[in-house]
Amino acid sequence: MKKPYLKEFPNEEGFFGKFGGAFVPEAIAKQMQEINKAYELIAQNAEFIAELRRIRTHFQGRPTPIYFAKNLTNKYGGAGIYLKREDLNHTGAHKLNHCMGEALLAKFMGKKKLIAETGAGQHGVALATAAAYFGMECEIHMGEVDIKKEYPNVVRMKILGANVVPVTFGAKTLKEAVDSAFEAYLKDPINSIYAIGSVVGPHPFPRIVRDFQHIVGLEAKEQFLDMTGELPDKIIACVGGGSNAMGIFSAFIEEDFIELIGVEPLGKSKLDSVKLGEHAASLSYGSEGVMHGFNSIMLKDGDGEPASVHSVASGLDYPSVGPEHAYLSSIGRTKVMAINDDEAIKAFFELSRFEGIIPAIESSHAVAYALKIAKDFPGKKLLVNLSGRGDKDIDFVVENYGYGDSVK
Ligand SMILES: Cc1ncc(COP(=O)(O)O)c(C=O)c1O
Repeated sequence: MKKPYLKEFPNEEGFFGKFGGAFVPEAIAKQMQEINKAYELIAQNAEFIAELRRIRTHFQGRPTPIYFAKNLTNKYGGAGIYLKREDLNHTGAHKLNHCMGEALLAKFMGKKKLIAETGAGQHGVALATAAAYFGMECEIHMGEVDIKKEYPNVVRMKILGANVVPVTFGAKTLKEAVDSAFEAYLKDPINSIYAIGSVVGPHPFPRIVRDFQHIVGLEAKEQFLDMTGELPDKIIACVGGGSNAMGIFSAFIEEDFIELIGVEPLGKSKLDSVKLGEHAASLSYGSEGVMHGFNSIMLKDGDGEPASVHSVASGLDYPSVGPEHAYLSSIGRTKVMAINDDEAIKAFFELSRFEGIIPAIESSHAVAYALKIAKDFPGKKLLVNLSGRGDKDIDFVVENYGYGDSVK
């Protein structure tokens, strides 16, 4: 009998087909194996599962609802548009789903300190929250460019007691933040743990983060059936590293009549003139390569090094993508689309003005794609993973785009 997808992938070495693995120095490989062993143990442990469930219900406020966006559905006149409201998860995004799990794992392993990178600051805020909850130290590495852009989240991290380390080299965004956090982790891998912020990094992180995010898809499936009597026709999620997308997709992979659509950031480019350096659509325009300890699809410069990338959304601004996304798109199970900065910002205002929900700019990419295709699919149902809320983005948006008065 065929194994269920989630049991089959990744394999024991952390591969999804040829993607994934753990391309790290030997000392770190040993740490990764220990983390994997500890995870295998607690994932079967009734006490751990019960504690995570309690946290999700009483601390995070799960389940998050599904909302039928009736005003936008009427405005666009085609498919029904539904939102899985991860913006209502405590701390305002899906990131807390894996942070509480990672911190619980760290506590079980006797670690004292949580270290991570952050782009938009949502993973940083979520990890600082988890550290406060469990009484652990927390160190967050963040590019100087993102510190300026996502300042409200920097303030939140500091109030929560985290040490925010500004990253001042290279493009000073997400990739450099990962480099810097990894370096800090290497200094003391015994007492600290690198609680990575997406389904990226060396094995076992892509699996661990996916498993902790799986709750999003599980809830969505039951809720959508309850609400509409059927399953959605298409599920749409933005893809940076890919954790919110894997969270929702992972519960629907075996229902192959449902289209799973990942939306990447096309940045300043347009579909008919895509320029390297202007976007971060790794799956759409990248090629196979190893970065940050895993084999996946990445955007490379002329020397084969990670290319510089751009997106208006700090959380999508990454030159690679989780290995499971590389695998699922290579076998045709997921479809990958791209939305540019202007389309995302327009969707940011549309959802704000027509539904009363201010979305994160990251999530606005998924919303924009749903709005783009809705009219072509009358009678169908689109489920968008609204991965986060946009409070962190409002200063940046208003400064650069005004109040959206042109949105009618
Ligand atoms: C609200 C929100 N959505 C999506 C992302 C992208 O991450 P991922 O692709 O891992 O879901 C981020 C990253 O910071 C985020 O803050």
